Amino acid sequence: MKSLEQYTRFIEEKIAGINLEEEPRKLYDPLRYFLSLGGKRMRPILTLISGELFQISNEESLSAALTIELFHNFSLIHDDIMDEAPVRRGKPTVHIKWNSSVAILSGDVLFVEGYQQLAKYTDKRLPILLKRFNETAIEVCQGQQLDMDFESRDDVTEEAYIEMIRLKTSVLLGCALEFGAILGNQSEETRNHLYHFGVSLGIAFQIQDDILDLYGDPELFGKQVGGDILSNKKTLLFLKAKAISEASKDARFGDLLQMAPTDSKIASAKKLFEEIDAKNASLETMNGYYSEAINSLDQLESKGLELGSLRELANFLITRKL
Ligand code: IPE
Ligand code: IPE
Ligand code: MG
Ligand code: MG
Ligand code: MG
Repeated sequence: MKSLEQYTRFIEEKIAGINLEEEPRKLYDPLRYFLSLGGKRMRPILTLISGELFQISNEESLSAALTIELFHNFSLIHDDIMDEAPVRRGKPTVHIKWNSSVAILSGDVLFVEGYQQLAKYTDKRLPILLKRFNETAIEVCQGQQLDMDFESRDDVTEEAYIEMIRLKTSVLLGCALEFGAILGNQSEETRNHLYHFGVSLGIAFQIQDDILDLYGDPELFGKQVGGDILSNKKTLLFLKAKAISEASKDARFGDLLQMAPTDSKIASAKKLFEEIDAKNASLETMNGYYSEAINSLDQLESKGLELGSLRELANFLITRKL
């Protein structure tokens, strides 16, 4: 069994080896900059590991893995414009280092670079890969729009939140895993099984991201801590805090919503959420989705697949600090 470090190193090497043009510099420098900042690379690793389950070598699944990672990086560059995020992976975001027009266009190129990778499969698997990738990419955009719509709404339910994060985050993890099964010419049943594992894991992963957004160590997390509070994001943490406050008629929550987007709003949110235990309520929901993910794996294992690496990656993602 390879270690996660080995998979990460493999992906990093291959990303560094992607042949990008030089000119215009303001189109390609931001791409090189962003891709060189690293990141966990967990989505392409999911594709590599999933492919291995069906005897597909890492070299063979590499292009599909890169498609997913390039798309992910494109979505982050655009997400940072939308969320007005100043830092990502511990460094200034592209729209801050350059400007929003540069970030839009270099993001677009990354998206197309992703398709270039997928186009390397020229056999009967291509239409299936393409169909699933396109469906997923559209769902991510739908989720991103809902995420923004929710900023100005105060009637978002937990159910609506889960659907929003399923779209913006989880389906891409599902697709990354399904790609391995498509490459291995597996049945729709097996494909679905891996997909659903990815979706449950992705929901747990995004809940964890919401918690880290407020409680993460800024050094490790690499993003602005409290950014979700500043933009009134309807994170699970926020929704749990709202529900607990309403149930106990705690007026402090209402005061928080009135506050201007400053550091003191972040500090007040952190203090209030801690006092009313919104974090533990969120962790409980997160653990529920993580258990669902593990249940899907248990079912797959009963089909004789060797799932040690997937278990290790799932555990890493849920205990991450970055
Ligand atoms: C960030 O994803 C966006 C979310 C869906 C929360 P990651 O946390 O995987 O970001 P990188 O690629 O490791 O930087
Ligand atoms: C991002 O969700 C999901 C996508 C990029 C599609 P977030 O906005 O929470 O991700 P971060 O926290 O900026 O990484
Ligand atoms: Mg966002
Ligand atoms: Mg964001
Ligand atoms: Mg976030």
